Amino acid sequence: MKSPRFLLSIAAVAALGVGATAVVAQDLPPPVQARQGQFQIMALNIGVLANMARGNAEYDATAATAAANNLVAISTLDQSFHWPEGTDNVSLVGTRALPEIWDNLPDVIEKWQAFGAAAEGLAAVAGDGLAPMQAALGPVGGSCSACHDVYRASE
Ligand code: HEC
Repeated sequence: MKSPRFLLSIAAVAALGVGATAVVAQDLPPPVQARQGQFQIMALNIGVLANMARGNAEYDATAATAAANNLVAISTLDQSFHWPEGTDNVSLVGTRALPEIWDNLPDVIEKWQAFGAAAEGLAAVAGDGLAPMQAALGPVGGSCSACHDVYRASE
């Protein structure tokens, strides 16, 4: 039986006019899905805080604290299983992880830890009011970009 997903893949490939070898709709390995999922969770939670920081949503101490705590929680996940060799963007379609990651693992880990430290700083003050939360959000955003600038391919 053909699953809807399979049919969708065929449609996508057909729409692009590419042949059977196209990897457009290939299933990504579970570690890649997992790491992309973790980044989606990070983006969702930082989005909640950024909306408050920009005045697009009313500051809410409870929600801000929850989002900051979620960021801290993600930062404590051991990354060992998310980055197997051969899952860079040269080997696989559907990932933006640059091969440089695997040549510089200590630096990547350092950048991940810097994100964790910034998230902890944010969590410590996220419930203390809009201004302290805004001030502590900047370094978290900076920690995202510091890694993306070097290790994530642009779209
Ligand atoms: C230590 C490095 C590092 C840090 C820190 C980091 N990222 Fe990323 N991020 C990456 C890499 C590498 C990818 C590409 C992953 C892939 O496509 O396999 C990525 C991908 C993403 C994606 C796309 C996920 C998808 O579905 O393809 C989002 C969104 C994202 N990051 C958000 C964030 C946010 C928000 C932060 C900070 C709160 C952050 N990242 C911090 C390295 C990092």
